[in-house]
Amino acid sequence: SNDILSQLPLNGKHILITAGPTYEAIDPVRFIGNHSSGKMGFEIANAAANLGANVTLISGPTHQKTDHSLVTLIPVVSAEEMYNEVHNVFYDVDIAILAAAVADYKPKKVANQKIKKKDATFTIELEKTKDILKSIGDIKDNKFLVGFALETNNEIENAKAKLKSKNLDLIVLNSLQDKGAGFGVSTNKVTFITSKNNVIEHELKSKAEVAEDLIQQILNQLDA
Ligand code: CTP
Ligand code: CA
Repeated sequence: SNDILSQLPLNGKHILITAGPTYEAIDPVRFIGNHSSGKMGFEIANAAANLGANVTLISGPTHQKTDHSLVTLIPVVSAEEMYNEVHNVFYDVDIAILAAAVADYKPKKVANQKIKKKDATFTIELEKTKDILKSIGDIKDNKFLVGFALETNNEIENAKAKLKSKNLDLIVLNSLQDKGAGFGVSTNKVTFITSKNNVIEHELKSKAEVAEDLIQQILNQLDA
């Protein structure tokens, strides 16, 4: 059709986005998790939907809301639930943007009852969670894959290594060096690194603007 919506650059594209933290249960009342407001992922979902994409947004626990008619929210709690939901939809998507702050480790055993305080010290044995991004990088075909990297040192070098090991087209490096970037604030300072080794540095911007920059970067690479 030639209506105005069909002219949008992401019309007909299905985009998968992960957002927020994951919570890994210790017992019925406690968990291990990362700091993450979910704001960046929700802003990306909005920016993509505004350009006509059908968005599946898989998010860990967050206060963020979305009311865009093109965004379907699938709430999850743990890394394992996020892994399963991502693999349920991955076959159908054109683009995947994994912005979630997934817990890298989870308790090896989850107690059925609340653990009572007893000894002066207490040890929890942890095991690795599955790397969701790497698992879809391994089966990516011709889908466009975007990851995030949160680094505190050797930032560019570490981000390039993640881009390569996870088979990505684009990685978004989040700088924690900058005040006003990162958790709990509405601004972010990012650097895009592409699979062709282009390094594109951006100014400190609102997360909404960073989301628009990211979608534009994806469109540029898809057009190239
Ligand atoms: N990621 C994921 N599943 C995990 C861990 C990470 O999908 N179990 C994704 C994140 O959503 C992000 C990217 O992998 O897009 C990089 O996450 P990051 O924490 O920066 O890197 P890790 O590979 O986990 O390595 P490390 O934390 O040791 O730096
Ligand atoms: Ca990690």
